[in-house]
Amino acid sequence: MKQKTAFDILKAGHNVFLTGAAGSGKTYLLNEYIDYLKENRIKVAITASTGIAATHIGGRTIHSWSGMGIKDDLSPSDIGQMLKKPIIRDRLAKTDVLIIDEISMIHAHQLDLINKILRLARGSWEPFGGMQVIFSGDFFQLPPIGRNNDSEVKFAFDSPSWQELNIKTCYLTEQYRQEDDDIVQILSDIRNQTVCDETRNALQELIDDPFSDDNTETTKLFTHNIDVDMINNRELNKLTTEAFAYQMATDGHEMVIEALQKGCLAPEKLILKEGALVMFVRNNFEEGYVNGTVGRIIDFSEDKFPIVELSDGEEIVVFPEKWSIEEEGETIAELTQLPLRLAWAITVHKSQGMTLDSAEMDLSRAFEYGMGYVALSRVKTLGNMKLLGINDIALQVHPDIYKKDKEFQKMSKRVEKKTKSPKKSKIVKRDVTPPQSKKIQSIKKVQKKYKNAYTPWSSSDDRKLLKYHKEGKSTKELVIIFKRQKGAIKSRLKKLIIVK
Ligand SMILES: Nc1ncnc2c1ncn2[C@@H]1O[C@H](COP(=O)(O)OP(=O)(O)O)[C@@H](O)[C@H]1O
Ligand SMILES: [Mg+2]
Repeated sequence: MKQKTAFDILKAGHNVFLTGAAGSGKTYLLNEYIDYLKENRIKVAITASTGIAATHIGGRTIHSWSGMGIKDDLSPSDIGQMLKKPIIRDRLAKTDVLIIDEISMIHAHQLDLINKILRLARGSWEPFGGMQVIFSGDFFQLPPIGRNNDSEVKFAFDSPSWQELNIKTCYLTEQYRQEDDDIVQILSDIRNQTVCDETRNALQELIDDPFSDDNTETTKLFTHNIDVDMINNRELNKLTTEAFAYQMATDGHEMVIEALQKGCLAPEKLILKEGALVMFVRNNFEEGYVNGTVGRIIDFSEDKFPIVELSDGEEIVVFPEKWSIEEEGETIAELTQLPLRLAWAITVHKSQGMTLDSAEMDLSRAFEYGMGYVALSRVKTLGNMKLLGINDIALQVHPDIYKKDKEFQKMSKRVEKKTKSPKKSKIVKRDVTPPQSKKIQSIKKVQKKYKNAYTPWSSSDDRKLLKYHKEGKSTKELVIIFKRQKGAIKSRLKKLIIVK
């Protein structure tokens, strides 16, 4: 399906699953739809499964937006407590459209929890409280990170909430990111599970004959956090500038602090130097940064807070932020740290959704289906990629997804067929036609019958109206004379008589 067709389906107000290969423009299309909604003053919640993915659409994580945070489940009374806060309640109740990008990394149980929260917040038993819901992503990419005792991941599409939504699948089939045929071929071989010797040889060549660069801006992708940390520390050590250390402050319940730390991307001990490449790990719209914003440390303030320069030249003095968990309105645990981490290297997980100008990656210890596909699909051409190693898992996708994907393709074809012959399609469930044009349509309808409806009253009309009224003409007669609705005649009279 083309982006244009999918855009029309989104505008019709359906619940949509927007999918397609990496680089097919899912996120691009979401941004277009977000612009359209904003222009028409339709309230949209912009979210994604990871903080960095959320930055690509100017949003926040679904965890933070929905209020579910890092919890696995919330009882109705927990949710009730949460909804006592007007900020959260209003946010959830006043949304018309919910967007979640990178849906492949959301657990089935998380989707059910979001559904539960929204139903309660909106007092509506309709799925997700009746708002238009748009999921976007590609299940060939990374699955949700497993919970401690979960041996098997349940994908979002397996959840009852997904089924309830009567979702229209839109499978985008054009390629916008990858520019050379070689990389397109490798990626489609992985998706179609047709990796052959030729594909392997092409990848081996990349390992044997890497592009040479000493560019520290080249993003390094690793499958494991430990490698990410090692590279970041190594790069930091290369800098000869003075080091400043920032220790995380913690307060509250020990176990809750531990849970908080797991969800907090800022390290316990952060060491920074002038020249270090850093990434923000929190949103702060006032200060001008969001989760995933990358910059370089250019100096330290008098109070020893780092000054970060962003790629657009903006300079930000970075102050500590708080991460906290509240229960029944009280803070039970809290962390305080600078919202930064080193950014020479990142994990493949965090790179999902990014388009990188050049990248270096090590896939020799890939441990998850889709990991290789995500990493390899970040760059535009093979020429800008350095591969340190690759294993077999990196070339595989989840066997269940391989089957499911065929289903998604079929569903999308059906949706497309119906869109092209709209007579057969059912009445759309929700209409997100801009409120203004809806109003214009209804005005036009009224004016067919009452020619002067909604046009201003002239003073000579007013004089005539008063005269006829005094003469004892009935409202019915006045409707015919003035070609206006009964209500309009009555309210005008009321106004004129009160005024006089
Ligand atoms: N219609 C389009 N016109 C121009 N550029 C596009 C278009 N669609 C996508 N792109 C560009 O292609 C790249 C990949 O798009 P993206 O939306 O990130 O893909 P996906 O989310 O499907 O992986 C991005 O750099 C994006 O700006
Ligand atoms: Mg995307």
